[in-house]
Amino acid sequence: MKFVCLLGSPREKGNSAAIANRLCRKAEEMGGEVRTFVLNKLTYRGCQGCMACKTRLDRCAVEDDLTDVLEAIRETDVLVLASPVYFWDVSSQVKAFLDRTFSFLVPDFITNPRKSRLAPGKKFVVILAQTNPDRNSFPDIFPKLDHFFNAYGFSESHLIRAFGVREPGDVAKQEDVLKMAESTAEKLFGAGQRP
Ligand SMILES: Cc1cc2nc3c(=O)[nH]c(=O)nc-3n(C[C@H](O)[C@H](O)[C@H](O)COP(=O)(O)O)c2cc1C
Repeated sequence: MKFVCLLGSPREKGNSAAIANRLCRKAEEMGGEVRTFVLNKLTYRGCQGCMACKTRLDRCAVEDDLTDVLEAIRETDVLVLASPVYFWDVSSQVKAFLDRTFSFLVPDFITNPRKSRLAPGKKFVVILAQTNPDRNSFPDIFPKLDHFFNAYGFSESHLIRAFGVREPGDVAKQEDVLKMAESTAEKLFGAGQRP
């Protein structure tokens, strides 16, 4: 099973990355093939609104470091998207990536029931880390992501959140969250499911 892991925090050893890395190591143990991209190390622009992906191309016209990422997502079985919560939302690194996924939509996506250029059946994991300890805070982040990736044909989604984490390494004290990362990897492989 192929995994693409996008680390959306500028802190490579931050909490969202630690959770994603735990999931990915477990996935590798189970035979998964993981490609990790640290978005903050890449140079890329957000969507330019040029509409080339709706008029003359079947992919994004912007060619930069995100081109490879978008291609890898076309090929992958699982996308792991890890982000810090910044200003009640994903980081700007993740947001610019998300806007570029507009190129996954077919030109008539508003009316076409098959909206996506991607093969159906991919799986999606969202990882969010935040300082606010309130488990009811920022409930809108995941449903929005889930909505769009559902339109892209992703058929299974999972959410892992760490609350009350501030400094890199804080999540190491939350073994339940890291265990959830491992059990999510198992679920992605269908482990423990009845035939
Ligand atoms: C620019 C900025 C904005 C932030 N906004 C929020 C916020 O809205 N809510 C929150 O709970 N934490 C917020 N935080 C704290 C981070 O979410 C927290 O430090 C988290 O651990 C960062 O994830 P990382 O460790 O993966 O980098 C913010 C931090 C920064 C630097």
